[in-house]
Amino acid sequence: MNAIPENNEDIQVQKLEELREKVLRENKQHQINKIRQACNVPENLLKSKTFLNFRVNDGNKKAFDTFSVWEPTDTWGIMLQGNAGVGKSHLLYAFMNKCAEMQLAVFFMNCSDMFDMLKSGYTDNSFEEKMDRLKDVEVLVLDDIGVEKPSEWIEEKLFQLLNHRITNKLPTFLSTNCSQKDLKARLHERITSRIKEAAVVVTVDGSDMRNKIYESRLDIIKSRIDKLG
Ligand SMILES: Nc1ncnc2c1ncn2[C@@H]1O[C@H](COP(=O)(O)OP(=O)(O)OP(=O)(O)O)[C@@H](O)[C@H]1O
Ligand SMILES: [Mg+2]
Repeated sequence: MNAIPENNEDIQVQKLEELREKVLRENKQHQINKIRQACNVPENLLKSKTFLNFRVNDGNKKAFDTFSVWEPTDTWGIMLQGNAGVGKSHLLYAFMNKCAEMQLAVFFMNCSDMFDMLKSGYTDNSFEEKMDRLKDVEVLVLDDIGVEKPSEWIEEKLFQLLNHRITNKLPTFLSTNCSQKDLKARLHERITSRIKEAAVVVTVDGSDMRNKIYESRLDIIKSRIDKLG
């Protein structure tokens, strides 16, 4: 508890202390906002996918807990593996919110968009700048790896990116629909081996939540129609 100031000097010191705390709080919030704006996920989407509104069940508890115990000093990330709609991207966005709170610069890319973006960098000479951003951001989140059709170019870029991040102890977080076996069939062993070095693999089981979301929309429509009488 703060001591009650006894004289003017004490009041001045307390006011200065309060001002200092306010400036620190504002600086922190400014930093958090900057990270959120630069992370490549629209603010309303990011806001709507949190750990608080993620429903934990038997199939996703291991993944949820793995994110909870991750520490900013860890040099590895997490790769979520599971079928469509089980909540992989939701968990990645929730984690990005947490990164921003921890003032860790984080950048999100859907994998196939990332390759399109990098390719576009050849036409406007921005390739190096784009690649460097992915290579050097404090936390990189790559959603849906394995969807893209593998090519020599894709493998080379993935290799360079992962290798750089591993060497520089920068964590990378990923998600995939592919099983380990499918990933190995799609990507060269040099890549799958580096994915393993970059991130611990956690399986997310469960049913496609999009079906539940769809059904609840039908319920909403039904109850509105019922109200019409
Ligand atoms: N456990 C959960 N609690 C709350 N919402 C969830 C949960 N799991 C999924 N959802 C919601 O279901 C929808 C689909 O989830 P999400 O996009 O995370 O799936 P995904 O595993 O990334 O699927 P895909 O492989 O197709 O990309 C999202 O709107 C997400 O917020
Ligand atoms: Mg997803």
